[in-house]
Amino acid sequence: MLSCHTGQLRMALRCDLIIRDATIIDGSGRAGFRGDVGVQGDRIAGVGDLAAASAAREVRAQGRVLAPGFIDAHTHDDQIVLQGAQCMCCKLSQGVTSVVVGNCGISLSPVRMATRPPAPLDQICAPEWWKFGSFGEYADHLRREPPAVNALALIGHMSLRIGAMDGDTQRAATDGEAERMRAWLADSLAEGAAGFSTGLFYAPSKHTPTDEVIAVAEALRAHRGLYVTHMRDEANGVLDSIAETLRIGEAVGAPVIISHHKCAQPENHGRSRETLRMIEAAAARYPVAFDVYPYTASSTSLAARDPRADVPVRVTSSVPHPEMAGRMLAHIAAEWGVSLLEARDRLLPASGAFHNMAEEDVRRIMAHPLSMIGSDGGPLAKKPHPRLWGTFPRVLGHYVRELNLMDLETAIHKMTGRTAMVFGIADRGTIREGAFADLVLLDAATVKDRASFEDSIQPADGIIETWVNGESAYVHGAGVTGALAGRLLQRAA
Ligand code: ZN
Ligand code: CU
Repeated sequence: MLSCHTGQLRMALRCDLIIRDATIIDGSGRAGFRGDVGVQGDRIAGVGDLAAASAAREVRAQGRVLAPGFIDAHTHDDQIVLQGAQCMCCKLSQGVTSVVVGNCGISLSPVRMATRPPAPLDQICAPEWWKFGSFGEYADHLRREPPAVNALALIGHMSLRIGAMDGDTQRAATDGEAERMRAWLADSLAEGAAGFSTGLFYAPSKHTPTDEVIAVAEALRAHRGLYVTHMRDEANGVLDSIAETLRIGEAVGAPVIISHHKCAQPENHGRSRETLRMIEAAAARYPVAFDVYPYTASSTSLAARDPRADVPVRVTSSVPHPEMAGRMLAHIAAEWGVSLLEARDRLLPASGAFHNMAEEDVRRIMAHPLSMIGSDGGPLAKKPHPRLWGTFPRVLGHYVRELNLMDLETAIHKMTGRTAMVFGIADRGTIREGAFADLVLLDAATVKDRASFEDSIQPADGIIETWVNGESAYVHGAGVTGALAGRLLQRAA
């Protein structure tokens, strides 16, 4: 095999790209080391001292950090991965090169929707995009028109439910309906989907009994698919929800991922001590992981939770009142002279950022060895939660450099090697010879999220360049290059 790696004989060979004199943080969690990385085509061809090799393009890193491209463990990018390079600037500008789509029970396939889907599905993908009648059709689209980042896909329970139950979801499914969902899920897994996601918290799913979820999730068994969940209750009932999640995963033999783990609402602040203890105990006998984003505000449909005075809410989008995006619900209610509830109802369909978590919990959950970093960003919102553009640089800048919550190698591991391992993504999330050349060059001394709640569409500082499958996809200051080098990923079970 051609290689510009070490060895006397191969030294004269040329690479397409060499990044020289970088601090290589390889994604495994081990300490960074100084060296060069050579790329040929879409793969890493050498790591170490490549002084004798040359390349069409050479980048002098001057000691700055070269890491595997980040894997965003939790996204709602189902639609934007279909829409070209510019739409993925929110991710490429953070160093993200792969995204997991289809989270929280919402996936753009395998159910075609003739009418506008109910909240929260309508917040995630625009009505005209619900046109994929199978996962295979969605996958074919990605193969025909490649995305700017790699994508691994889950199949969403809410999407299946709406399809199988003809929109009438405020009840348990019949056995026949559950069987239809199971069969769709099985077909999707056979066509390359990686697992099954639920959003039992949300209206189109909340009447689902645990046994219905198990009946559908049964399809996971044959494919070693993942069970990924936005749990039924992340507030008062969070421990019961973790128990339910584990029961579902174990019933069908599926590895479990708890999405955006949190302890929501003021009365539950501090309870991450209990939740993490419970998850740890389960993880000792069973594969369990969770993702987390580095903010104390969640974001979802405004319909999802009744507003209360002690949880400030910022509107991120509203169909009837787009002009209110970015403003606090309390200010809008005062201006209209109505209650919070009435103001909320007038804004629907709408989404918002809910300031409902404690910093102490966010830090404890993020620092935990079982965590991965996932943004959960809402790419369609007019004034999105800043996590869409800020998650990864915020962990590296604010939580690592400023607060020293963990070391840089550990943080990068939670964005790369660990995530690849949990999701079964082969040859990514690592810098080693033979792995795919998904890379990010960053300045650890300056990396910083610039997206704020007031001004949330802002690329980060300190992310210098991002490569996807060996192609330069983003350059700081210049933006996306237009490269469409991403691929649909499959889980290696
Ligand atoms: Zn969610
Ligand atoms: Cu989500």
